[in-house]
Amino acid sequence: MRGDSLPLLRRMRPNSVDLVMTSPPFGLVRKKDYGNVSANEYLDRFRPFGEAIYRVLKDTGSLVLDIGGAWKPGTPTRSLYHFKLLVMLCEEYGFHLAQEFYWWNPSKLPTPAEWVTVRRIRVKDAINTVWWLSKTPWPKASNRRVLQPYSPNMETLLANGYKAKKRPSGHDISDKFAINNGAAIPPNLIALPNTESNGAYQRYCEEHGFTQQPARYPAELPEYFIRMLTDVGDLMVDPFGGSCVTGEVSERLERRWICVEMIEDYLKGAVGRFPSSGTAGSKTAAKANF
Ligand SMILES: C[S@@+](CC[C@H](N)C(=O)[O-])C[C@H]1O[C@@H](n2cnc3c(N)ncnc32)[C@H](O)[C@@H]1O
Repeated sequence: MRGDSLPLLRRMRPNSVDLVMTSPPFGLVRKKDYGNVSANEYLDRFRPFGEAIYRVLKDTGSLVLDIGGAWKPGTPTRSLYHFKLLVMLCEEYGFHLAQEFYWWNPSKLPTPAEWVTVRRIRVKDAINTVWWLSKTPWPKASNRRVLQPYSPNMETLLANGYKAKKRPSGHDISDKFAINNGAAIPPNLIALPNTESNGAYQRYCEEHGFTQQPARYPAELPEYFIRMLTDVGDLMVDPFGGSCVTGEVSERLERRWICVEMIEDYLKGAVGRFPSSGTAGSKTAAKANF
């Protein structure tokens, strides 16, 4: 859906959304084409979204924000804006921090060059914080839907057996540790390269001459949270939709969804993500909620 998502969120029914999964424009020092604001202005710009998102979420609902950090202009030190955003959303609007996640993108470039590759005084910034916030302390969630294969070490331990004992840290590890549950509970560090360069979306944009959204997240990131925090038929909203990857994943997982994006070219390109069904999920959800 094209437009400013704020009035759309304000028109939606209260307590109607299961998950807001999004990556808002970051508070970047070097601005991108789609209009990032500086770190200082950031909190003021986000306040009305915080209020509107809180209103539309169900009591069991979650807001998941993928948000990268920023360097202060002219110095090799970091802005606190994404931490301040987290504190603001919790303290001013009543969100709860369900859990903080870190998305490690091993393919990130070593920037800013001045501090990392020229003066060699800082290391590569390869982490985005992903704030999982909830409307109440009890959001709907199940880690059973995002289990991962066991590591080779754990497979060996399960095969050879484990003797219950106290760890040097003092933790008492019982025999239950050695029960094979078929898969492992993942940590809150998500390792995911962001390197796709020849997917259906890119090819469609190139064929039709549409500008590609330059700050896309990989489909696996929203997929993780959509699986963990929603059921089939639930409603997911992405108010900063970009190339509509969140909508594409929701459609594949049979969730209802609404993606809102201001820039027409990004949405024209997003059509390439839905070769057979068009944007049916979006239309259905929109009818039901406005
Ligand atoms: C970081 S990008 C999102 C990228 C998206 N997750 C993807 O993978 O394609 C943020 C997007 O939010 C859009 N945007 C910013 N303010 C908006 C608003 N008020 N309403 C709708 N879209 C907005 C920008 O145009 C930009 O495309």
